[in-house]
Amino acid sequence: MAKTKSLEDLFVNLLKDIYYAEKQILKALPTMVKKAHDKTLKEALETHRKETEGQVDRLEQVFKLMDAPARGKKCDAIEGIIAEAKEHMDEIEDPQVLDAGMIGSAQAVEHYEITRYGTLIAWAKELGRDDAIELLEANLDEEKNADELLTEIAESRVNQQAAA
Ligand SMILES: [Fe+2]
Ligand SMILES: [Fe+2]
Repeated sequence: MAKTKSLEDLFVNLLKDIYYAEKQILKALPTMVKKAHDKTLKEALETHRKETEGQVDRLEQVFKLMDAPARGKKCDAIEGIIAEAKEHMDEIEDPQVLDAGMIGSAQAVEHYEITRYGTLIAWAKELGRDDAIELLEANLDEEKNADELLTEIAESRVNQQAAA
């Protein structure tokens, strides 16, 4: 990390981290959509898969604004969260219990994204990059909405069914 000298360097490094994360999430979501049992959960995951494609596009725009090549940097944190989701899908046979487990993993993903976008926006503010802030806030809003929707699905029925 010898090349990280400034807040702008830190910002671009974190941008690479979330870019890698979004692309890994994009790869993981189709299996989650397929494995989801609850219809609303399935739809919510599919909607978020489409949103994630747009988020990758927005991140590519931010790279362009920063004059940096759109490249991901391997992020162990998101790999770990996705590995946990895969473990659930491999090991849980009861569909209701699997739904509850997948919502838990999906919310871990959303919270990871929310913290990364929060930091990126704070740094973009310091750097006076209002153009980047707008794009990052659009992504953050989608993550927050996805998280809230997952809470609603879990608490309105999935958790109860899993406990039955
Ligand atoms: Fe995302
Ligand atoms: Fe997300």
